[in-house]
Amino acid sequence: MDIVNPALHEYLIDHATPADEVLRDLAEETHRSLPQRAGMQITQDEGTFLTLLVRLTGARQAVEVGTFTGYSSISIARALPEGGRLTACDVSEEWTSIARRYWERAGVSDKIDLRIGPAADTLRALPQEEYLDFAFIDADKTGYAVYYEELLARLRPGGVIVLDNTLQSGRVVDEADQSESVVAIREVNDAIAADRRVESVLLSVRDGVTVVRKR
Ligand SMILES: C[S@@+](CC[C@H](N)C(=O)[O-])C[C@H]1O[C@@H](n2cnc3c(N)ncnc32)[C@H](O)[C@@H]1O
Repeated sequence: MDIVNPALHEYLIDHATPADEVLRDLAEETHRSLPQRAGMQITQDEGTFLTLLVRLTGARQAVEVGTFTGYSSISIARALPEGGRLTACDVSEEWTSIARRYWERAGVSDKIDLRIGPAADTLRALPQEEYLDFAFIDADKTGYAVYYEELLARLRPGGVIVLDNTLQSGRVVDEADQSESVVAIREVNDAIAADRRVESVLLSVRDGVTVVRKR
């Protein structure tokens, strides 16, 4: 199922602030060196959206779950003010070694604290305070429910969580689809929609992007 009409896709990309040379090179290298995996990378319009959201919320303390080769982390970190911090979670030394090179080029290395290991463990070890301003979840779909709860507990009132791939190529509305990831995302979407602790919207941007604000 096309979530965004293919005829509109290029038009949407062309009418957002474009990626700079660092992000263009990163996208190109990711597609060239990891062709089977490059589809995991967020797209240019999503990167611009994350940068805008971080700036609009004035976020200083951020967490990302799912770093891969670094596109979203750069999009977030470059919008943080001086002294701002992004804790980036991933399990792959290999993929994040590419991210590290591009963090240097983007001049954001000193703002990013990369934690290698299962994100659930990393998040549980973060301070048990409402200190986070912004979080982005884009990793294993069966982990989303845990990531959401651990992050929400640490989010300040007014803080924002963004979850990627919440439409699963439209498979969320096909009840015959009982695959693990789709079921997990359906459950998270239902839980967030019913969650009185937050206000939220599920946007039909790319593969579905949910934006949550803690009350
Ligand atoms: C969709 S990719 C992230 C794409 C990234 N946001 C970007 O902009 O390029 C998902 C990432 O989640 C990581 N991942 C998968 N399971 C994980 C887990 N349990 N804990 C932490 N990271 C995990 C993978 O190694 C992969 O790099």
